[in-house]
Amino acid sequence: MLCSWIHVVFLLQHDKINIMKKAIIVPAEEAEPVRLKLLQRDILDKNRKIKVSRGHTGEKLLEIPVKGNVEGYTIIEQKELEYYGKWESLKERLEGVIPVEELEYVPSGWQLIGDVIIVSIPEEIDSRKALIAKTLLEMYPGCKSVIQDFGIEGQFREPKRKIVTGSQTETIHRENQCLFKMDVMLIMYSKGNLPERKRMSMLGKDEVVVDMFAGIGYFSIPMAVYSKPEKIISIEINPVSYGYLLENILLNQVENIIMPINGDCSKLTPQDVADRVIMGYVGSTHHYLNQGLMAIKKGGGVLHYHETTPEELLFERPVSRIRDAALEIGREVKIRECRRIKKYAPGVWHVVVDAEIS
Ligand SMILES: C[S@@+](CC[C@H](N)C(=O)[O-])C[C@H]1O[C@@H](n2cnc3c(N)ncnc32)[C@H](O)[C@@H]1O
Repeated sequence: MLCSWIHVVFLLQHDKINIMKKAIIVPAEEAEPVRLKLLQRDILDKNRKIKVSRGHTGEKLLEIPVKGNVEGYTIIEQKELEYYGKWESLKERLEGVIPVEELEYVPSGWQLIGDVIIVSIPEEIDSRKALIAKTLLEMYPGCKSVIQDFGIEGQFREPKRKIVTGSQTETIHRENQCLFKMDVMLIMYSKGNLPERKRMSMLGKDEVVVDMFAGIGYFSIPMAVYSKPEKIISIEINPVSYGYLLENILLNQVENIIMPINGDCSKLTPQDVADRVIMGYVGSTHHYLNQGLMAIKKGGGVLHYHETTPEELLFERPVSRIRDAALEIGREVKIRECRRIKKYAPGVWHVVVDAEIS
């Protein structure tokens, strides 16, 4: 019974979505010894700032944040909470606001794309999503919307997402001085691929590059901005992604380098043109290996082949797929590097193999 009453209280608090935490009111001149006493007794909430307020007669009072009740002092529920740093975790901010047993489900990570926050919220605390969104927006005052993430699906790599707070879902994300415009409800942007995007930005100088699965320009844009290849042929099948690819080419002023093509790379990849081919797609990338290899100049070039590989098949499977496809068309393969990009699923890695093809 007690438990359900506690629940009711928390639900009421949640409905209002006012995060309130306790503070004691102390005359300014007495504050320091009180603060020290609270600190020694581990009751002081060190994450929140001491705030100044005024008494009835205008005297200066201090609101000292505390973690629980303290006898002998006037206690208030603070509404306008001020924290020392935005790096105060979401969980810490929700301590004392939601029931203890729910705290373990509070997300410890999220993604900031431009001014939008993308977060996965476990089912167990789905009812807290408005509160979580409000708290995240307090942590990132520059952000406007909070979007709940349910994963990525399909050939177009489309995200499944729902708006929790805000209405704006189109944003411009800045990374490594490159600009990526996208609608986060329609387009994925993997933070785990950042090292690979940076690596690609250092390759391709003066080359002809084919980016077979270009998306909104994840690899094409940084490569064009930093390495200035002679040309990047960027192919993208999804018209929505392709639209943003066009915008991103203009935003980053690389229209003289990137040649965008809307369509299926299995049909549109040019042959015998490339010094370098990027196959930045996972799922069924090996089905496109023939086109990727055929794009490479007869004189030779480099292939960046991505796939998702079960741990026990690292790196034997992607390497043998490249070798088998090359053998079929009489090309030679020299493996340069095999890297793990990120954990894709339990026991499965997103990997990239760099191969010299001649
Ligand atoms: C989302 S990207 C991969 C993400 C990227 N590696 C990153 O850094 O986040 C893969 C893109 O390939 C596109 N695609 C899938 N099949 C394709 C095909 N047959 N031809 C051209 N593009 C394709 C998808 O629409 C998607 O935009």
